[in-house]
Amino acid sequence: MRTSWRALEAHHARIGQTHLRELFAADAQRGERFALEAAGLYLDYSKNRIDAETISLLLALAGECGMRERIDAMFRGDVINTTEARPALHIALRTSMEARIFVEGIDVVAEVHTVLDRMAAFAEQVRSGHWLGHTGKRIRNIVNIGIGGSDLGPVMAYEALRHYSQRDLTLRFVSNVDPTDLVEATRDLDAAETLFIVCSKTFTTLETLTNAHAARAWSIGQLGDDKAVARHFVAVSTNAEGVAEFGIDPSNMFGFWDWVGGRYSMGSAIGLSTMIALGAEQFREMLAGFHVMDEHFRSAPFERNMPLLLGLLAIWNTNFLGATTLAVLPYEQYLKRFPAYLQQLMMESNGKHVTLSGEHVDYATCPVVWGEPGTNGQHSFYQLIHQGTPLVACDFIGFCQGLNPLGRQHDLLMANLFAQSEALAFSKTADEVRAEGVAEPLVPHRVFEGNRPSNTLLVDRLTPHTLGALIALYEHSVFTQGVIWNIDSFDQWGVQLGKLLAERTAPELESTTEPTLAHDSSTNALIRRYRRTK
Ligand code: F6P
Repeated sequence: MRTSWRALEAHHARIGQTHLRELFAADAQRGERFALEAAGLYLDYSKNRIDAETISLLLALAGECGMRERIDAMFRGDVINTTEARPALHIALRTSMEARIFVEGIDVVAEVHTVLDRMAAFAEQVRSGHWLGHTGKRIRNIVNIGIGGSDLGPVMAYEALRHYSQRDLTLRFVSNVDPTDLVEATRDLDAAETLFIVCSKTFTTLETLTNAHAARAWSIGQLGDDKAVARHFVAVSTNAEGVAEFGIDPSNMFGFWDWVGGRYSMGSAIGLSTMIALGAEQFREMLAGFHVMDEHFRSAPFERNMPLLLGLLAIWNTNFLGATTLAVLPYEQYLKRFPAYLQQLMMESNGKHVTLSGEHVDYATCPVVWGEPGTNGQHSFYQLIHQGTPLVACDFIGFCQGLNPLGRQHDLLMANLFAQSEALAFSKTADEVRAEGVAEPLVPHRVFEGNRPSNTLLVDRLTPHTLGALIALYEHSVFTQGVIWNIDSFDQWGVQLGKLLAERTAPELESTTEPTLAHDSSTNALIRRYRRTK
């Protein structure tokens, strides 16, 4: 065990139970001291159960884990995704045109900008009505077909930046192999005005290819001509052969590279739907926001480095305070898909059980990530966060300027955010409850123990730029945690087994003769019952 980890354990034994009330009482400047600003984001982390020594011990842990070298290795394009033998170079998607980053002797930055320019030209054609469908009608509907990283980034970004989108275009997102997803997304659309973007890094994903084939049948069915595919389907993939096999003209394919992980790909051509909705200029603004945070992460001293500190605080909460879940609570309706986006980013990256060298970890890794926009969550699950038995770490996200001013509503929204983080941190003791005149039997029910840790991210305004910075903040926080846990944050072997078993099971459900089932008795019985009833 690392020396600094042991020191943190000893430190936890000393201050682990110290209440946030005491910590705030001991330092009148705490709210400003444990806060910092970067890339247009303000992070207040003072409502964590930490003191100055906690931070210096966490920074020592980062040093001991070789954080500097690991960050430099990522930015250099070293093979840091060792189990897949690839770099993890999403930062190259948003770096400036003048930068040079080489992978196997090829300058990837030049390639990135070539694709961005092609995307921009295509997006402009669609937005301006110059890209016509097979029957000569302009495109009014864009349906993105993809799953995981080929869906969650695009849908989250579209929802988050809808305010800035071209309103006469309808965007929909289809991910689930459940046919309801595609059927509901297309039922009121005119195929003559509908463009499908098939997004799949591998172009082998069952859900996406199944939906893409069904969408093609729907399109051809309405338009009555196979040739319609050329005007109504484009693809985003690293697999040119797979795209051609599907029947999409390679000139209608936008490429990216295997050094972009699916969950890190929304700044690549996977963001084509985002670019069509926003326009190229605003898409580039979003990339610029990512880049400012990337540069901050790469160059800011560790004690003022926002993603690094956010990652280290997550280590403290997870491994020392025992918080096994993280609630992401945006007080911004436009960020309604942000918790789902972070679920994949965090849990697919850091939900790992072995170290880089394959040894079983003997510490907790990624917490369960979940959340909902405030204030809605306050009327459902906040009860548990305030008075339940698990310790839930919370990230509150709010904006000083609302995008849709309406009376006092934005102030009310933000008053709720501030009130919640305050209520979570500071208790209401039994004596305080009694002093309010509450009857004795009810006193225990009305007590708030407090001392629940939270971060608050306060941003001036939700824009493409600040959204980019916010996402990059979490990406690099995830990286920081992965380095401390010594795991590969860029592979996802855990999703393979289920995929294989589904491939084996599908023919058993479809077969017209009774199949010989060789599963366990539970799965066999479920399959038999399904076959009888379907
Ligand atoms: O679920 C596993 C996964 O590989 C994700 O990592 C990825 O984002 C998703 O499937 C979709 O993959 P693809 O873009 O290759 O269709």
